[in-house]
Amino acid sequence: MTIDSIDDVQSMLAGEGYICGRALATVTFLSLKLGRPLFLEGEAGTGKTEIAKAIASALGRKLIRLQCYEGLDAASAVYEWNFAAQMIAIRTAEAAGGADRKALQSELFNEDFLIERPLLEAMRPHEGGAPVLLIDEIDRTDEPFEAFLLEALSDFQVTVPELGTIKAQEPPIVILTSNRTREVHDALKRRCLYHWVDYPTFDRELDILHARAPEAQETLSKEVVAFVQKLRTEDLFKKPGVAETIDWAKCLLALDVIDLSPEVIADTLGAILKYQDDIARIEGSEAQRLLKEARADLAPV
Ligand SMILES: Nc1ncnc2c1ncn2[C@@H]1O[C@H](COP(=O)(O)OP(=O)(O)O)[C@@H](O)[C@H]1O
Ligand SMILES: [Mg+2]
Repeated sequence: MTIDSIDDVQSMLAGEGYICGRALATVTFLSLKLGRPLFLEGEAGTGKTEIAKAIASALGRKLIRLQCYEGLDAASAVYEWNFAAQMIAIRTAEAAGGADRKALQSELFNEDFLIERPLLEAMRPHEGGAPVLLIDEIDRTDEPFEAFLLEALSDFQVTVPELGTIKAQEPPIVILTSNRTREVHDALKRRCLYHWVDYPTFDRELDILHARAPEAQETLSKEVVAFVQKLRTEDLFKKPGVAETIDWAKCLLALDVIDLSPEVIADTLGAILKYQDDIARIEGSEAQRLLKEARADLAPV
C-alpha cells in the first residue's frame, strides 16, 4: 500500500475501522513520510494505542509493543539472557568433563541465549518491511528511561554489551503515547512529531460508533454520543473516553434498550463512569437533566 497523501492516510485507517480527523491524519502522514517518531498525548481512551494497531494492520507490518510501567529499565526493554538455558548448557559442558572456561563463556553469551525484548526486536529486519514500534504510556516510566529512549530513537540502534551495537537497517515506524500523568521531557518530544489527541466532536464520535458498534440503531447511537458529550462538560474526576462510549452502546444493545431513559442510565452508568464519586454525582436528577439537554441538541431545528 502506498501512502501519498493525507487522504490516503484517512482512508487507510478508515479501512481498519479507525476514524481519524484531518489534523491527526496530517501528522501521521508526515511521520510516515519523514520517518519521524509520532508522539501522541491525550486523555485515556481517545484512540492513541489503537491508531498504532490500525497503522500496523493496514500496512501489513508487525506491531511491537513496549508497554511502559514504573521501574521499567533499559535492559528489560532491550534484551534478557536466557538464564535457564545458560544453566543447562553449563551443566551439559560440566558433565562432558573438562569444559574450557573461556570457550564456554563466549558460547553462553551469543544470540542463541538472547531473549529479544521489544526495542531490540524492533531494530531487526522483518519480512514485509520495518515493524511498527509502539512505546505505550511513556509517562509511566521515569526520566532515565526517557533519556535512554532518546538515544535509541536518535540512531535507531541499541547496544548489548556482550554482543555490540545493533542498528536497524530500516528504521521502525515509532509511535509513542502518553496519558499525561506527568510531563514528558522536551528533548524526547523534540525528536518527534507531536499531536494532542482530543475527545472527538459529536459527528466524529458518531462515525466511530458506527464503525465499532454497527449493530446499534441510529436513534440509540445518537443519544449515546450526545449524552457522553454532555457528560464530558461536567466536572468529573475521570471523564469517559471513546472506549467508554463504545462499551456503553454495547451494554445497552445487550439489554435490548431502544432509547435512553434516566432509569436505564442509572442502571448502566458503570460502563461510562469508573469512580463512585462521579457516579453518585450524575445519578438521578443530574442524569435526567443531561439527557434532556442531549435530546435538545439532537432535536431538528
Ligand atoms: N478514532 C477512533 N476510531 C475508532 N475507534 C476508536 C477511535 N478512538 C478510540 N477508539 C476505540 O476506543 C478504544 C480505546 O482506545 P485506545 O486507543 O485504547 O485509547 P488510549 O490508548 O488513547 O487510551 C479502542 O479500542 C477503539 O475501539
Ligand atoms: Mg493506550
